[in-house]
Amino acid sequence: MQVIIFDDAQQVAANAAEWVAELINKKPNPVLGLATGSTPISLYQQLVNKHQTDQLSFKNVISFNLDEYLGIDANNAQSYRHFMNVHLFDHVDIDKNKTYLPICAQGENPREQGLAYEEKIKQANGVDLQILGIGANGHIGFNEPTSSLASRTRIKTLTQQTLTDNSRLFDDNEFQPTLAMTMGIATILDARYVLLMATGENKAQAVKNMVAGPLSAMCPASALQMHENAIVLLDKAAASQLDDQEYYQWANDQNIKINQEFGLYHNY
Ligand code: F6R
Repeated sequence: MQVIIFDDAQQVAANAAEWVAELINKKPNPVLGLATGSTPISLYQQLVNKHQTDQLSFKNVISFNLDEYLGIDANNAQSYRHFMNVHLFDHVDIDKNKTYLPICAQGENPREQGLAYEEKIKQANGVDLQILGIGANGHIGFNEPTSSLASRTRIKTLTQQTLTDNSRLFDDNEFQPTLAMTMGIATILDARYVLLMATGENKAQAVKNMVAGPLSAMCPASALQMHENAIVLLDKAAASQLDDQEYYQWANDQNIKINQEFGLYHNY
């Protein structure tokens, strides 16, 4: 894992945006894995900005979102489709027909829909760069603690902690789904690069468990220890419980020097 610690959340977003822009500029048909939640909103703002000011074009991008709620349709303001439209898709030149979320409409068989989503990712030749946030309980996507580390796209029942964490986004009388379709942990690990963003003190314990804890289904994000190209972008607050912060900084300085000497190399 490459752990990079920034002064604040804006710098985390700016660096994540550089990764996305580099992929889009480098690869003719880039495949992005996208996340929702509060953390990547500033990344999407930066990408919209790059589209408007630096002509960063999304016209050849194919995207796959991590997850979508069950029981609400795409037009619902709480759907992740709506979130993606509002924060990114409506503001860039992406072809919305090539933006996918793991949807399971009423009456559809979730097992078949999960398999179909996996197949669609395969047909696109896999995800090049997967954006991730992390739950305070260590979840990635909606792979809650105890999720199989070998899991694939399927339905998950959200934990009480996740429901409570996300209740801030729902009005008192609004329906808050308790089930979601989510890429599995193995699906996420298939991506060529994973870029996890975490900001704020409330993520510090989960970040510690992910980076320095044992590989465990109790902290699904710890599965990223098994990924060849996992990059973790943190602000100081999210990094605050890590013991080896100086080492990460030192290693990062060395990486910058190596990149300067030999060029940036990402094997997309
Ligand atoms: C969202 C997702 C979740 C969030 C996580 C953190 O698509 O998959 O894993 O990344 O719950 O959410 P925020 O950023 O709101 O703290």
